[in-house]
Amino acid sequence: MKRFSRAWFSLAIGATLISLAQAAHTQTPRPLALMPLPSSLTLQGGEFEIPSDLTIALASTDSERLRNAVMRFQKRLADKLGHPLTSHIITASAGTIILDIASDGEAVQGPDENESYKLTVTASSIAIHAPTTVGAIHALETLFQLVQPVNGTYSIPQVNIDDSPRFPWRGLMIDCGRHFEPIAVLKRNIDAMGAVKLNVFHWHLTEDQGFRIESKLFPKLTGKGSDGLFYTQDEARELVRYARARGIRVVPEFEMPGHSTAWLYAYPELASGTTPTGIRREFGVSDTAIDPTREATYHFIEQFLREMTTIFPDEYVHIGGDETPAPDWKTKPRIQAFMRAHHLRDNAALQAYFNQRVLAILTSLHRRMMGWDEILTPQLPKDVVVQSWRGIASLDAGARQGYSGVLSAPYYLDGMKPAEVHYLADPIPADTQLTAAEQKLILGGEVAMWGEHLNQHTIDSRIWPRTAAIAERFWSPQNVRDIPDMYRRLEIVSVELESLGTQHLTSEDAGLRDILRAEDISALRVFASAFEPVSFSERYQQQHTDQLTPLTTFVDAIRPDPPIRFHLELATQTFLGHPGSNDSQTSAARDQLQSFFTSVAASIPTVELEAENAPRLQPLKMRIEQLRALTSIGQQAIASLSSGTAAPSGWKQQSLARIADAQKPSAMVRCLFLPQLTDLVNAVQ
Ligand code: ACM
Repeated sequence: MKRFSRAWFSLAIGATLISLAQAAHTQTPRPLALMPLPSSLTLQGGEFEIPSDLTIALASTDSERLRNAVMRFQKRLADKLGHPLTSHIITASAGTIILDIASDGEAVQGPDENESYKLTVTASSIAIHAPTTVGAIHALETLFQLVQPVNGTYSIPQVNIDDSPRFPWRGLMIDCGRHFEPIAVLKRNIDAMGAVKLNVFHWHLTEDQGFRIESKLFPKLTGKGSDGLFYTQDEARELVRYARARGIRVVPEFEMPGHSTAWLYAYPELASGTTPTGIRREFGVSDTAIDPTREATYHFIEQFLREMTTIFPDEYVHIGGDETPAPDWKTKPRIQAFMRAHHLRDNAALQAYFNQRVLAILTSLHRRMMGWDEILTPQLPKDVVVQSWRGIASLDAGARQGYSGVLSAPYYLDGMKPAEVHYLADPIPADTQLTAAEQKLILGGEVAMWGEHLNQHTIDSRIWPRTAAIAERFWSPQNVRDIPDMYRRLEIVSVELESLGTQHLTSEDAGLRDILRAEDISALRVFASAFEPVSFSERYQQQHTDQLTPLTTFVDAIRPDPPIRFHLELATQTFLGHPGSNDSQTSAARDQLQSFFTSVAASIPTVELEAENAPRLQPLKMRIEQLRALTSIGQQAIASLSSGTAAPSGWKQQSLARIADAQKPSAMVRCLFLPQLTDLVNAVQ
């Protein structure tokens, strides 16, 4: 049996592509691997050689949080260098690394925390100045990313960096309701967030499919509503502490009045009429809703939220508020009578009434309210924050009315879109119509990772590395928009995130091994490199998934926007620039494309054999057949274009028909090279 090694394959593709990107996009003596890019950076030339003995001097603030950040840094640095590093943290104004930090920052970090820092690296020392420990934490992440190999050794370029975030709210939401994610998974994701300077972990804790946070006052919430999969209060407090140590806030979300089936299964007396007979397994929007007309509802919510404030110190509490059709509100005579008595015209008005009652509770608990677009109603005071999932128009409409907002719509990871699509979406685009005062109300953005099709094995590859690119959008200046340079840095950062503990790269191999029940996945891995998962909604349409659907198939193993996709895009552009030419860039691009089509084609017979003993590969039969044809079309196109010979008559039409056929849904995956193949075929005479 033929053996396939991914190593030679990615080496061939990776090496030339990186050199192309460097040639085109690097003005610096050597390419930096910073993400997010700082707002100001000046390379001084020369390197700082990292000594094996470091003295880390705390020149002003000396706090436990700062010391812990420094210790994490030195441990990671030693791991990166691969040799022991002795270091001493002292209170002094001189050392190898000097941290001059004015204060430890707010007792509870908020959006107003000063996160800026200055980092100066000379030939002999490194100095960090920051107003707060959070700034110092960011500076240490930048310093860590600056450590890159030069001439066979790791060193740090001499540099002046003066950096601060463009937006104060840079979040990642993880939905732990639809599928529970163990604390260890959340911690490794929080580590990765810190590495790319995200600062809000939005914890989506309750859903129709599960209530995930322990309440001691209302134990049935998790007792009946969680399948036993929930976070204890101690675990949640520990996660808050863990996040704070990394400069990250934790904003909890408790969905109300909709998306509350698990909650109402536990306490049916709070329901509007229809009471759930169990945890909801189906996805989509549910008809159940909390009853906004009873005082008992507000008494319950007040006690529950009061209890939650003992776990979550953040100033903001997210109440969800989205997607509440609540048909009971239109039909139950008791609710209708309440609406008439309170002059509430329709469901939206009743929900606005509910929001105001909840807002009063939160205010009494010294908390501010956040919710999805639907909470935005004219009666609400201006200090609520709206998270926009409906799009930038909705966000801007809120800002024009004086509401602060956070943009989420373009950062929904379940669409399985390429990093570049998310990256180019800006919370305040260059052509914004908002006034300067309105722009100030746009606090930033949040990545949303919904949980329908996630488990603890697959979640990382849906979040990373794409979220690192989005983190740059939230932090770096608006004009940082160079896609090839973003992808160049993203590949480096992706591997560094893996070193930190995320499993977004290893999970693909593990998933393929699990499917094949074999250690040798070399052919399947090359085959898999031609595919990407479809979006959650396409998958839902194809498979009619629910909470109990196993997430162990081919689509779960492979990842969105693998580096090969952009490599093929670049190579196709370069090759089609002068297809017949033999200059080094064109032939390198041609070799990459050839190598891709040839190696994928060569994997097919093995995968076909393996599929016979791997039941979970059976649904891929049509994709296997298509790939055989498509890789052959790719090889033919390259041959024709290179030699300048015309294709046989009918070839182009047939090939385009084959490509169109492969666009149709099958096996919940799509061939990731179809746009490039279409361009190649169209270029043939
Ligand atoms: C949402 O996506 N329904 C917030």
